Amino acid sequence: MKMSGPHEKILLLIGIMVLTVAARAIDEDLTGFVTWGHNYYKTWGHPALVINETSELDLTLDHKSGSGFESNSIYGSGSFSMKIKAPQTKSTRVVTSFYLRSKSSRNDQLCFQIFGNGPAYLLNTNIIINGEGAKDQRFRLWFYVDDTPIRVYKKNPSIPYPSGQTMFMHGSVKNGSIVDPNEMPYTAKFQASTIDGCVTDFLDIEKCFGPQFWWNRKENWQLSSRERKMYMSARKVYMDYDYCSDRKLYPKVPKECKSRN
Ligand SMILES: *[C@@H]1O[C@H](CO)[C@@H](O)[C@H](O)[C@H]1NC(C)=O
Ligand SMILES: *[C@@H]1O[C@H](CO)[C@@H](O)[C@H](O)[C@H]1NC(C)=O
Repeated sequence: MKMSGPHEKILLLIGIMVLTVAARAIDEDLTGFVTWGHNYYKTWGHPALVINETSELDLTLDHKSGSGFESNSIYGSGSFSMKIKAPQTKSTRVVTSFYLRSKSSRNDQLCFQIFGNGPAYLLNTNIIINGEGAKDQRFRLWFYVDDTPIRVYKKNPSIPYPSGQTMFMHGSVKNGSIVDPNEMPYTAKFQASTIDGCVTDFLDIEKCFGPQFWWNRKENWQLSSRERKMYMSARKVYMDYDYCSDRKLYPKVPKECKSRN
């Protein structure tokens, strides 16, 4: 993620790595952008605008509607890096989201959301497995955060893990309850950089589990010691909310919270 300053437009580079063994936000060597080509379609609201030889998708939120897109390709595992520029807001709640979601009644989802929250921004992540969500973690945003992993969700036989269903990429921009008509239209920009996903068929996730995919290899099952340090320090300094410590919502510590490092 990259962000240049509190008063400039926010620019985030976001990564999700979905392994058959572990999911985490990952730092990426950012070389080149993949073009959207035909790999997206409008799901609701205003149609996405494709800019600059199809590398950038712009979504619009105005007084009529927000906007959302979904990929045509389905993924079974992978590493997804997205450069996101959230709309500039002064005193509003505009929600810009990038997420991977399965298409079934048992919803699996890995989600990044940028909340325009007055002059500040919050980065929220959520994980939904088999329709069970409310695993939010939120960070106050700092300056250069691109290289910092912010969430690890370990695979463990006793904990549900989102590796049972194929998923589509999604993006959207929405009215999150307070929007300022004078600031409209809001534009959220999505540049796909390094989408290293295993494209598959709806029901064929097994083919995405092998070590021929770099993100499945053992050396990527854990954070490096450098990444781990950054991860711990970001949580210490910038964490705004963690469902793992929310005893009102979860009187008992959720199982996955005990082994999250
Ligand atoms: C289009 O993309 C190129 C290469 O990334 C960049 O140098 C250029 O500034 C972009 N143009 C616009 C209008 O965004
Ligand atoms: C934004 O959402 C809020 C809460 O749902 C609603 O009261 C308001 O009218 C919406 N604003 C616009 C411009 O759609």
